[in-house]
Amino acid sequence: MSCLPEQKDDRVIVGRDTFDDAGVFKLDEERALIQTVDFFTPIVDDPYLYGQIAAANALSDVYAMGGKPLTAMNIVCFPSQKVDVKYLAEILKGGFDKVDEAGAVMMGGHSVDDEEPKYGLSVTGMVHPQRVKTNAGARPGDKIILTKPLGTGIISTALKGELIKEEDAEKAFQVMARLNSQAAELMQDFNASACTDITGFGLLGHGHEMAAASKAGINLYFSTIPLLPGVEELALEGMVPGGAYRNRDFLKECVKLEEGVKDIQASILFDPQTSGGLLISLNPHAAEGILAELKEKGIEAEIIGEVVDNPGIVTVYP
Ligand code: CO
Ligand code: CO
Ligand code: CO
Repeated sequence: MSCLPEQKDDRVIVGRDTFDDAGVFKLDEERALIQTVDFFTPIVDDPYLYGQIAAANALSDVYAMGGKPLTAMNIVCFPSQKVDVKYLAEILKGGFDKVDEAGAVMMGGHSVDDEEPKYGLSVTGMVHPQRVKTNAGARPGDKIILTKPLGTGIISTALKGELIKEEDAEKAFQVMARLNSQAAELMQDFNASACTDITGFGLLGHGHEMAAASKAGINLYFSTIPLLPGVEELALEGMVPGGAYRNRDFLKECVKLEEGVKDIQASILFDPQTSGGLLISLNPHAAEGILAELKEKGIEAEIIGEVVDNPGIVTVYP
């Protein structure tokens, strides 16, 4: 949104300029508001699951800033003449259940008639102004942790062609519907230096945003990166969505693929994610501590790389 004119306000802690997950606005010395909005077209057939995933995805940007969601509003586009409203009720129930699980309050929303359904939330959260986790704080020497396995874009593409094993699809659904709440709480406990969540620009796109905002480099090791089951096979079968190629093209100056990284592996790292995990940068000692606690909670997190002194560049090793 760089086409918009600049606005100066000292209360803005995180604004539009650093491509962060959400806006953060300081109310007083103790409290800052976090605001974000996200919605998209159905990625699964089951309306209840779609609602859950869309809500988990929208709530995630508050978690990525280190905050807690307070309130949410529904954003709905729906072809009410063509599709039974029972379908819409299921979507809304899915969204409500996730907002409720997050400990936030559903305040209402707005709907318009539209050809294709779309659903998401605007979310307001709260954080202490001193505890905001931006994508700009990563320091050389930090370790990088990812808290969900990758591959939801590839899985969604395979779903459209019905080319996927049921149990693999089921696993991807669970991962997308999972809140990043526990990971966010732990990264505050372990005093993370930076955080973002993995969504449409893929691991490498959001990794690059963190590297650029932090004026540091990030080295990633493919063999350590958690993947959803079946993803490598599906990518080999050509189930890579167009967004992965657009991300790759857009990032060609900022991402370096070292020898031994296969083309198909790179595609997975550029794969746009829906409701992906948190990407957390923190000192090596804290990284070991948080990893143990994440695993104890059943979260499939791994240390996947480190921060180096190579401003704005993400380098991938096999
Ligand atoms: Co985000
Ligand atoms: Co977002
Ligand atoms: Co953040």
